[in-house]
Amino acid sequence: MRGLSLTARLSLLFALAAALVLLAVGWVVARSVEHHFLEMDQQEIRGKVALVRNLLARSSTPEALAALPRQLEAALVGHHGLAVRVQGPDGAPWFSTAGVQVPASALAAVPSAREHWVEWREGGRAFRGLAAGAPSGLPGSATYRVAIALDISHHQDFMAGFRRTLVAAMTLAALVTAALGWAATRAGLTPLRRVTALAASLDANRLDARLPQIRVPPEIETLVLAFNAMLARLEDSFRRLSEFSGDIAHELRTPIGNLMVQTQVALSEARDIEEYREVLYSSLEEYERMAQMVGDMLFLAQADNGQLRPSTAPVDLAAEVRALFDYLDAWAEERGVRLVLEGGGRPVLGDRLMLRRALSNLLTNGIRHTPPGAEVRVRLSDEGRVTRISVENPGEPIPPEHLPRLFDRFYRLDPARRREAEGAGLGLAIVKSIVDAHGGRIAVASDGQGTRFSIALAGAQTPGLREPGGVA
Ligand SMILES: Nc1ncnc2c1ncn2[C@@H]1O[C@H](COP(=O)(O)OP(=O)(O)O)[C@@H](O)[C@H]1O
Ligand SMILES: [Mg+2]
Repeated sequence: MRGLSLTARLSLLFALAAALVLLAVGWVVARSVEHHFLEMDQQEIRGKVALVRNLLARSSTPEALAALPRQLEAALVGHHGLAVRVQGPDGAPWFSTAGVQVPASALAAVPSAREHWVEWREGGRAFRGLAAGAPSGLPGSATYRVAIALDISHHQDFMAGFRRTLVAAMTLAALVTAALGWAATRAGLTPLRRVTALAASLDANRLDARLPQIRVPPEIETLVLAFNAMLARLEDSFRRLSEFSGDIAHELRTPIGNLMVQTQVALSEARDIEEYREVLYSSLEEYERMAQMVGDMLFLAQADNGQLRPSTAPVDLAAEVRALFDYLDAWAEERGVRLVLEGGGRPVLGDRLMLRRALSNLLTNGIRHTPPGAEVRVRLSDEGRVTRISVENPGEPIPPEHLPRLFDRFYRLDPARRREAEGAGLGLAIVKSIVDAHGGRIAVASDGQGTRFSIALAGAQTPGLREPGGVA
């Protein structure tokens, strides 16, 4: 069946099923017609045998007995295809009809009182008969034997014709069913062909196409739903991808433009060494920012390709946080922000450099958004199998509509504050890809109290850290 179209398969199955059902029905019909004929024949023969026995039983004188053959002749003549044979008590033939003869063997087999059915063929014709003992009315006389048979050829001919008709009708019906099945299947598969046609017509510019769900059979509805959902996911990924490359171009244009203007201004007239040096320093800053952005993008590209494979060594998060505090202290102090670590807990299994990078991104964001005089608070705690790290800072709350997209690439709340914010909006995307690569979860909450990022990672004792969904 491999390679056969669905329509052809279903049509064949229809035909096969129809043939089987018709075969069963035909068999039952043929059997009951045959049975009907048998009963008819037997009833007629029994009637004749009863007649002969009755006549014999009523003949109580030798005269009556002697007159009986003529009586029988008169009673039975004209019955086409009827063969009668009566045998005397001595075994000698006593009466028989002209024409077809009941074979003597039929009578020989009869034990005196019992009935015995016989069938035979003769001269291309078939006969069915009954042999039976028949006591005469003559006192002291032994039992006669009667055999009466009927020509059943026409019944058998009829049955043969009937069977041929049945077979022909069944074959025809099976063929018709196959054809109807083919048409029905083709009609039934129309929605499937629509799905195929749409899938074939899709390209990047038509990802917004969706299959209509109206009047689709339930079996195909799931396919349509899955297909539409796939299209939606593709469209979303594709949109993000094109936005991403658009964003990259956009983010690079500004620093390159700055560099160009700066260089053109510097070259527009003769300058002394000090001025050139200043321009170069300023350019260096711009280069560094671009290098940082390109490095971040490379990191995210690796994460996208599944190439981000964190090592799984035990990492003491408290030690990492303290090291980061040392590194960021001067900058935080400059902004009037204090850094606080609370709690501790067991080590987590993970990649030390990556986890440090994630914490560093969260801390720099926190410091940047904390008003002077306030503090950024890091909390470490163990909750069952899970180690939780939260970085919390007071400050203006992030409006709820921004929260779901905060981890998207190049996503920043206020584009106007771009230059001042100093980042390209890749920091949180990197944090999320690092947490994902560790099989952890990250969440953000923001209200009047401040903003809190919270990461859940598997503790060091837990095997299977990197399995997705390993941490709730
Ligand atoms: N602790 C925080 N408090 C308030 N807003 C924040 C905080 N951390 C991040 N954000 C917002 O999320 C945006 C994205 O952050 P991020 O991905 O680190 O990009 P970047 O720091 O380069 O702007 C930031 O522009 C900022 O608006
Ligand atoms: Mg940042």
